[in-house]
Amino acid sequence: MPADTTNRTPRFAKGRPPDDGGDGVITEDSALASRVSGALPDGEAEIELRGVSKRFSARKRETLALTDIELGIRKQEFVTLLGQSGCGKTTMLRILAGLTQPSAGEVTIGGRPLWRGDHRDDEALRKLGLVFQDANLFPWYTVEENIALPLLLRKVDKAERRRRAHELGELVGLQGFEKALPRELSGGMRQRVAIARALSYNPEILLMDEPFGALDAITRDKMNLELQRIAEATKATVVFVTHAIGEAVFLADRVVLLSARPGRIRSITQVDAPRPRSLEVTTEPGFQENVLELRRQLTEDEERLGRNGGVSE
Ligand SMILES: Nc1ncnc2c1ncn2[C@@H]1O[C@H](COP(=O)(O)OP(=O)(O)OP(=O)(O)O)[C@@H](O)[C@H]1O
Ligand SMILES: [Mg+2]
Repeated sequence: MPADTTNRTPRFAKGRPPDDGGDGVITEDSALASRVSGALPDGEAEIELRGVSKRFSARKRETLALTDIELGIRKQEFVTLLGQSGCGKTTMLRILAGLTQPSAGEVTIGGRPLWRGDHRDDEALRKLGLVFQDANLFPWYTVEENIALPLLLRKVDKAERRRRAHELGELVGLQGFEKALPRELSGGMRQRVAIARALSYNPEILLMDEPFGALDAITRDKMNLELQRIAEATKATVVFVTHAIGEAVFLADRVVLLSARPGRIRSITQVDAPRPRSLEVTTEPGFQENVLELRRQLTEDEERLGRNGGVSE
């Protein structure tokens, strides 16, 4: 298994440069065709994608959404997946969540293969909590009932459901709103309910697909600060999809940048700033360097495709 290919410097590290094809010359073609391995040394990864590709066939159209993804994620690591629209971020997260079966390659969670043939391993799935862009709450259930819904499905008794909903409501800053209905909440509060719901059965791994994409900038900053605290308190491993570069760097231990279709790992950036991070970190030169370098790589891809890929600061 290849060694960890990320760079490490004391605080912020630069994005990993593209492979040079062995001849030391980085041409635009070799840079764009480069593929970085994010595999970790044996035994280090809690989550592993090995040689993962996904091809969709729909109405005579074939789309190679992801190709040859090699990525290991450590226990309690916070990894952000960054890339322009359509590069395969959601596909990769759905593959990790067991919702989409890869066309090739293997996914393991806690050392267990997620798929055996066409059968998903339910034991591995139990470790996962999912949060999507849309909170997807049940409008006729209260905050408390929405948070505890996965526990109801797992036949946990009422007293324990209430206790847990209360505890999680506090963790995500919703105390006092336990009896409110989703329509009485702001967008940010609804996303907090979705996060609390995903945490209700103590998942070891939290998979989040642009959970704050629909929020205004100030609420989003606040949610990012809260999410750091929640990840720390729950000791969860987090995989977080975003197309906002600043958000990706702020939250991450490692930023995995996907190239435009077909999605490959374009670079991996180690972010070593200590936690918890305050928003002041975003003004540090190291942070800005990371953002600029990632933007440069994304722009290169956009130019290749001749379009704006919908990536924001
Ligand atoms: N179920 C599907 N059937 C056919 N093609 C699909 C399916 N899901 C995704 N794709 C295709 O795979 C590619 C990657 O899609 P994906 O949703 O993973 O992108 P994304 O990076 O999450 O984009 P965005 O930032 O817009 O959410 C796209 O070209 C998309 O059209
Ligand atoms: Mg998506």
